[in-house]
Amino acid sequence: MNHKKIALVTAGGDAPGMNSCLRYLIKGLIDHNYDVFGIYRGYKGIIDKNYQRLTKRDAGGIIQRGGTILGTSRFSQFTQREVQKQAVMNLEEMGIDVLIVIGGDGSMHGAEAISRLGVNLIAIPASIDNDIFGTDESLGADTALNTIVRSVDIIKDTASSLDRAFIIEVMGNTSGFLALNASVTTGAEACFIPECETDIDEVVKRLNQRFVEGRSNSIIIVAEGYGSGFKIKELLEKKGIRYELRVTVLGHLQRGGSPTFKDRKLSLEFATHAINLLISERFGVMTSMRDDKITECALTEVVSKKKTLDESLIKMIDTLKWED
Ligand code: F6P
Repeated sequence: MNHKKIALVTAGGDAPGMNSCLRYLIKGLIDHNYDVFGIYRGYKGIIDKNYQRLTKRDAGGIIQRGGTILGTSRFSQFTQREVQKQAVMNLEEMGIDVLIVIGGDGSMHGAEAISRLGVNLIAIPASIDNDIFGTDESLGADTALNTIVRSVDIIKDTASSLDRAFIIEVMGNTSGFLALNASVTTGAEACFIPECETDIDEVVKRLNQRFVEGRSNSIIIVAEGYGSGFKIKELLEKKGIRYELRVTVLGHLQRGGSPTFKDRKLSLEFATHAINLLISERFGVMTSMRDDKITECALTEVVSKKKTLDESLIKMIDTLKWED
C-alpha cells in the first residue's frame, strides 16, 4: 500500500477532454492505491489551498462533459517567483507528493517553474489552440476543430442562399492552427493566420473572379491572432470586393461541448501514460503524442521552443505567401 498523495489541477483555459482525462486519472490512480486530491480553480487554488479528496464517485458522469469539474482560472500572478515559491510551500504543507497539471501553453510555463523549484510534477497538454511545443496533439483541439467545421458548413447554407462571402473569426491565441486546419477542411477560399502573410490583393482578385462566375458563396477564415474579422472586412471592402460581406466571430462556442471520440481516446492515453510516469517516478515531463505514439517531453524543452504549423497545410492555401 503506498498511499502517496497525488493532486490534480486543471489550469488556464478549459478544454474539452479535461473532464474525461480527470475521470481516467481519478479511477486509475485510486486503483493503484494512491490518495487523490483535486485542487480547485487552477493554480490559484494552490495559493488558496482550495483542495479536496476525490473518490471514484467524482469521476462518474463526467466523461462526456466539456469544461472541467475542478474549475480553472487565469492566474497571471503565477508568473511571479514569490507566488511560485508560495505554491511550492503550500503543496508541501498540504502533504502533496506529486502534482499532475492539465493545461495549455501558459500553464506549462507555470508547471515548469514549480517543477524546477522541486515539485514532483507531471503535465498533460490540454488546449484548443494546440500551440504547445513537444506534442502533435493537445486535448480539446480536435473537438474545437469539429465545432468550427460544423459551424462553417452551417454558415455556407445561408451564405450561398444570399450570394455572400463570410469572414469567420476563430480562436487560437497567437497560433493559426485552428484557422489553417479549419480552412483546408472546409474548402475556405482564403485564410489569415499570424504565421504567414496573406496576399490581400490576390484574395480580392480570386473572390471577385468567383463572384463573376456566379459562385454563390465564399469563405474566409481569420485567426484571432492575425486580427479582427471586422478589420479584414473593412480592408476587403476598401480593396473593392464585390461580394456582400458578413462577419461571424465563433468565440467561446469553440471551447465548450462534449469531447470527440479522438479527444476522449487521447485523454485516456495521456492519463494512462501519466500514471506510468508517476509509478516510475519520472517527473518534470509532459505527456505527448508524436507521430501517433504516446511519449513524453521534458518541460524545460516544452517551454523553450515554439511549435510551428504543418507546412504542407500552409502550401494548400494559395493566397498564403509561402517562402521555401
Ligand atoms: O487558450 C484558449 C483560448 O480559447 C484562446 O484561443 C483564446 O485566445 C483565449 O483562450 C480566450 O481566453 P478567455 O476565455 O480567458 O477570454
